[in-house]
Amino acid sequence: MASVLEIELFGNCNLKCVMCAQQFPDKRQRAISFEEFRAIFELYKPESLDYITLHGSGEVMLSPIFGRVLDFIPDGLPIRFLTNGTQIAKQKEHLLNNADKIEAIDISIDACTPQTYKRIRGGVLSDTLESISTISSNHLYKNKIRLNFTYHKHNYKEIPLLASLASSIQVSRVGIWPLVDSAQYLADEWAVSYNDRSADEKFNYRESLVSCNDPLLLKYLAQLQLACQSHGVDIVLPEFYNIKNEMMHLKPSDCPVVEYNRIYYSTGEAKHCCLQTKPVFNWFSEGAKRFEAVDRHHQIVTELKEDHVPSECEHSGCPYIANFDHIPSSDPSEITFQSRTKST
Ligand SMILES: C[S@@+](CC[C@H](N)C(=O)[O-])C[C@H]1O[C@@H](n2cnc3c(N)ncnc32)[C@H](O)[C@@H]1O
Ligand code: SF4
Repeated sequence: MASVLEIELFGNCNLKCVMCAQQFPDKRQRAISFEEFRAIFELYKPESLDYITLHGSGEVMLSPIFGRVLDFIPDGLPIRFLTNGTQIAKQKEHLLNNADKIEAIDISIDACTPQTYKRIRGGVLSDTLESISTISSNHLYKNKIRLNFTYHKHNYKEIPLLASLASSIQVSRVGIWPLVDSAQYLADEWAVSYNDRSADEKFNYRESLVSCNDPLLLKYLAQLQLACQSHGVDIVLPEFYNIKNEMMHLKPSDCPVVEYNRIYYSTGEAKHCCLQTKPVFNWFSEGAKRFEAVDRHHQIVTELKEDHVPSECEHSGCPYIANFDHIPSSDPSEITFQSRTKST
């Protein structure tokens, strides 16, 4: 039974974060039409869903149908989404009109100084903070906004500054996430220019990963925890920080995601999880349909229950299969990772 439906409204973005797949835009990334949104949405009964998300891997607030979709989603179905925050001021009216339905907005910030923000995301930090402030100070959005920070070697020393940054724009929640440690990103040389063009050096994905035992990381996280306490800010820390060794024992049959998550990307790819390396089916070429109507979906559920790695999850960096590469997949995929190379 699905309980989270994710429909990517818009596959492109106005920023160019050095660690994001938007560095290599896929020509199929596009805006979905309202009719396409509706065809997918109507496959699922709103009462069977815990919530709906709208972001996928692009910037949802650039979608031409963003406001229409918010208006269309019925009362009682909570809406959540991830955004880079740059378009909040422009979409303020839609956001205020639909504030009752919007349960959570996660805003990726990934830097706490203008220099780092420019360098790794390609935007102007003060503009983004001003944009966020247009709703974060409104009582309708109290406790609904979280500032997210995806860390790597080139921004993690700014982690402790996140509490005061959030507090300065009246945001009371922050979250810290690691870069995806996935073969999909690492198989090819991922070395891209920074956005400030001030240095010849490049962002190298593989070399930017930070180990969960990195003493500096642990120090920065501890400093952030203290800063959050003094600013009255809630914090979500990376799973390893809380669970530590228990993470090592996760296995494919522990994956809860295939049971509840349904993602429809604007490219047509339908996946259970953003970390899957191959789609389960294509809703664009095959027509909009429920996952439950697809044989492969049921096979994937069975394979995971039997602690096999489905071909759709091969090489994924998720903790359920990361330690199980020795288990042969039932249907080996032919992933070449070429779509994520520099030349695309
Ligand atoms: C792909 S973005 C899409 C939504 C929106 N544009 C945003 O930036 O929030 C979703 C989240 O993924 C994070 N992200 C991007 N590339 C990542 C990577 N390689 N590993 C982990 N998180 C990543 C971003 O920082 C952001 O928090
Ligand atoms: S803002 Fe989001 S989608 Fe855009 S490049 Fe950055 S992480 Fe990727």
